[in-house]
Amino acid sequence: MVNIKKIFARQVLDSRGIPTVEAEVSTDKGVFSAIVPSGTSAGKHEALELRDGGKEYFGKGVSKAVSNVNQLIALRLEGKSFSSQKELDGVLLGLDGTQNKSRLGANAVLSVSMAFSRAMAVEKDLELFGFLGESFGNKEFVLPCPQSVFISGGAHADKSTDFQEFMVMPTGLKSFSSALQCVAEVYHRLAEILKKKDLHTNVGKEGSFAPNLKSLSLAIQGAFAPRLESNSMAFELLSIAVEEAGYSLGKDVSFALDVAASEFFKNGKYVLETEGKTLTGGELVDMYGELLDVFPVVSVEDGFAEDDFESFSEFTKKFGHRVQVVGDDLLVTNVERIKKAVSMNSCNALLLKPNQIGTVSESLEAARLAFDSKWNVVVSHRSGDTEDAFIADLAVAIGCGQIKTGAPARSERTAKYNRLLRIEEKLGGKAVFGKNFFV
Ligand code: PGA
Ligand code: ZN
Repeated sequence: MVNIKKIFARQVLDSRGIPTVEAEVSTDKGVFSAIVPSGTSAGKHEALELRDGGKEYFGKGVSKAVSNVNQLIALRLEGKSFSSQKELDGVLLGLDGTQNKSRLGANAVLSVSMAFSRAMAVEKDLELFGFLGESFGNKEFVLPCPQSVFISGGAHADKSTDFQEFMVMPTGLKSFSSALQCVAEVYHRLAEILKKKDLHTNVGKEGSFAPNLKSLSLAIQGAFAPRLESNSMAFELLSIAVEEAGYSLGKDVSFALDVAASEFFKNGKYVLETEGKTLTGGELVDMYGELLDVFPVVSVEDGFAEDDFESFSEFTKKFGHRVQVVGDDLLVTNVERIKKAVSMNSCNALLLKPNQIGTVSESLEAARLAFDSKWNVVVSHRSGDTEDAFIADLAVAIGCGQIKTGAPARSERTAKYNRLLRIEEKLGGKAVFGKNFFV
């Protein structure tokens, strides 16, 4: 039982310099805080992130969300006792009373929900992952395999490629720490390769490089692919980096892709500007098929626009047996949308982002539904993230075996990796790595 003495929130900045909400929950055992992340290429069906509008911070301030915590939520919770996450979140949901958290703001609600998880963990003398695992009904903790983004494009990097994120996954490594070492080594190798080609190595929002691949995209013959345009060029560069770093491509290291296709979906067609192509959903399915034939891609996220369930289904039907088909903007961690995608066989994996839905309990429910539907789950950061490493514990707690939390660079990204190193140490010999990843 946690007795809430005080609730307090303030406005702080995320990794992009944009305001976000930090909440503190005070109990007899101490003060427990949490900071909410925020997306750039956010899905339109996400719960509402309350922003002030007006002049300050170009309208991006969160003072209304902060005062919703300090007034409405504090008034309702202070002096009350709660015995579970579900109970607390139920009260928050009742207080908000809307479908998409538009009264209080999902950022306001989630900050308190997450801070409460930390208070409960200490109350029960558990690590955060221990408490979240208990709330999820899972005792088998799993250290997740990173999906680590090395090259960014789309809305994350001024459209240097059409696809948003080109990621490496050290699927063949045996422990989290050796996987992280591999990720870091390949990342530095890639930087050397880019420099030699006179490409930029400045890092973007998630710590990844954002080279202008348009300049290299004139159908060059690649060592791995016969014909390269800007989007496949990114995988070609990653392939070289993996091999030059001394790892075996396809064995130690596989690739993952987050297309974020809603960003280039125009009038019912997919417009690949860097390649000068306009494709139907079906043609895009085939283009991914060609990429899968050339590169060891094991996961494709948001290959189609956020309401194009049909193209997702076509892709899953054709390629779902050999690749993880992940829904992010399509599903927005929302149980109703997951149910629709399950019924249409649109995906076989959920990208789990707590701030898309707004409470810890609803995030756990979404993961439960995904697992019950025989899907995979990938716990994920946002492009606007913070020093809060909550998702590292969440990934371990639900045992999903995968986390997407950026490049091994920039402290808001390494905060999660470093927390996972500490968890691995705490679990000692019991630390299972990357299980439940079927591809
Ligand atoms: P976002 O992007 O955090 O900007 O929404 C991440 C993603 O699309 O997975
Ligand atoms: Zn995504």
